[in-house]
Amino acid sequence: MRFPLLFVTRSCKAVHRLQQNPFLSPNSAPWRHQRIAVLTHQCKDERSYYITTPIFYVNASPHLGHLYSVVIADCLHKYKLLQGFNSKFSTGTDEHGLKIQQAAAAAGKDALTFCTDVSERFKHLFDSCSISYTDYIRTTEQRHRQAVEHFWSVLWNKGLIYKGRYEGWYSTQDESFLTPSQVGDAMDSSGKEIKVSLESGHKVEWMKEENYMFRLSAFRSQLLDWLRGNPRAIQPECFYQAVLQWLQHDLPDLSVSRQRSRLQWGISVPDDPEQTIYVWLDALVNYLTVAGYPDNHDQWWNAAHHIVGKDILKFHAIYWPAFLLGAGLPLPQTIYVHSHWTAGGKKMSKSLGNVVDPLQRSQTFTSDGMRYFLLRQGVPDSDCDYTDHKVLKLLNAELADSLGGLLNRCTAPALNPAQVYPSFCPQSFLREQGGRAVVEDYHMLDAVKSLPAVVEQHYESMHVYKALEAITACVRQTNGFVQRHAPWKLDLKNSKDQQWLDTIIHVSLECLRIYGTLLQPIVPEISNKLLSRLGVQPSERSWAALNFLPRHQGLDCPFEGRALGSNSGVLFSRLESQNVDKQKPNKRQYN
Ligand code: MSP
Repeated sequence: MRFPLLFVTRSCKAVHRLQQNPFLSPNSAPWRHQRIAVLTHQCKDERSYYITTPIFYVNASPHLGHLYSVVIADCLHKYKLLQGFNSKFSTGTDEHGLKIQQAAAAAGKDALTFCTDVSERFKHLFDSCSISYTDYIRTTEQRHRQAVEHFWSVLWNKGLIYKGRYEGWYSTQDESFLTPSQVGDAMDSSGKEIKVSLESGHKVEWMKEENYMFRLSAFRSQLLDWLRGNPRAIQPECFYQAVLQWLQHDLPDLSVSRQRSRLQWGISVPDDPEQTIYVWLDALVNYLTVAGYPDNHDQWWNAAHHIVGKDILKFHAIYWPAFLLGAGLPLPQTIYVHSHWTAGGKKMSKSLGNVVDPLQRSQTFTSDGMRYFLLRQGVPDSDCDYTDHKVLKLLNAELADSLGGLLNRCTAPALNPAQVYPSFCPQSFLREQGGRAVVEDYHMLDAVKSLPAVVEQHYESMHVYKALEAITACVRQTNGFVQRHAPWKLDLKNSKDQQWLDTIIHVSLECLRIYGTLLQPIVPEISNKLLSRLGVQPSERSWAALNFLPRHQGLDCPFEGRALGSNSGVLFSRLESQNVDKQKPNKRQYN
């Protein structure tokens, strides 16, 4: 039985491409279909992809940094769907813990009502920004409580949790325990001396209590083995190296519960109502809950990819894998780490009063505009400073002028009175037959032909900004192509000129089709508008349809001669600076 299994696994990718390729006639090889049906069923699991965002604390409303985490995950999810994967995408809210308990009390609301209100604000933001999550989890849900209790019991039954005494520093803001070397001196706003976390700057307090401890120290060498054997498990590389560095030091055991008297808002330790489970253990299990843990998680749990900000790397790259190893579960495939958005050079935070409201900005710049900006400008390896002016400049240059201008030129009735995808004349690109194409045009064709592979590579490594850089460079080249040959100067009574004009437009529309298809994970509304204008049907927008300029390779082009879609207005309207709020921190009180 070994042979057929091997055959099935190897064939999955090829079969999938075959199924999706609109350039293959469905009637050309009817025998294939029977075989495909069988193989598709058998390789279902191999094609699963599960992407998660961190779940967001509900002590304050969403800000731009939160939207960034979600937009990256949404982009990868949409990209995997285009590639034909069965993709699951989860996001949601982290609702237990001391800081939520305190925020609810300060707002004078009961904790669950408070959490529901803020959780709805996150959801509303994500819905307004075309985020296609397939599951929205709240840690106050019953399904999650069951998953956490089960997970705890597994660790307990394996002897990995024991009753102990924790004495040390704790930051409520970060919900994190710190060693003395991670703590420094500072002054609070009233001039009082306080201790703070050196990493986050948040206040820490000395804590001394009986609680349950997890044997984290026992996992150091297994974690090192995992990372050394999987050098791409944490990306980008600089964060992988940082985790390896952390693991050079001893890992102390981790306190995984708090006394009920101090923390009521959380899940009780099974069989010990006097203790509440540590909020990070509770929160991390959300990824399993969504996967169907404890009964039904196998399909997804082998295919998990986490997006996290750099401030929560320790929890995801050390605590979480150690918990999973302890519970005998597979480790995540990839932890993608991103850096932070700052405003005025400082990390956005409610306490600093420099948060940028993503809902307001997505109304000003459109949801696609904000998505484009965050992904084009956000570099995972380093922090990025936000200003409205940067957004305005970037969107006007790249979406309105460059991409929008190109579409406008190629579909304008003056150049394209028949409103069709015109014919390609192969001789125009054959120099020996007197073709009019010049060397730069061949360079452009090469660049656009290889663009899908370039973009794929960058999407896979979460360097979305590099994918967008490559797409933008190609759009510029196509604009240069049109400009160079100035089709508006051609004499349309001359049949040779008419053929050349048609060819210029055909090539440009083909370029636009590739850009529109590749941009779907970034700017879904703009891509839809663009592809609809070109007359590209929804079934022709997958990764497998990215066959650029087939007529140049002597193949049929399904679009040639097809009527363009209706004109639904400019692709992206230029933004005027007087209509855009000057950059100012959002002073709105959230709760
Ligand atoms: N609740 C935890 C995560 C638990 S996951 C099991 C948490 N929540 S958070 O609301 O504080 O942060 C959620 C995400 O937003 C994190 O990835 C964090 O890095 C990200 N951001 C918060 N501020 C940010 C910026 N200023 N810039 C970019 N992302 C930042 O941590």
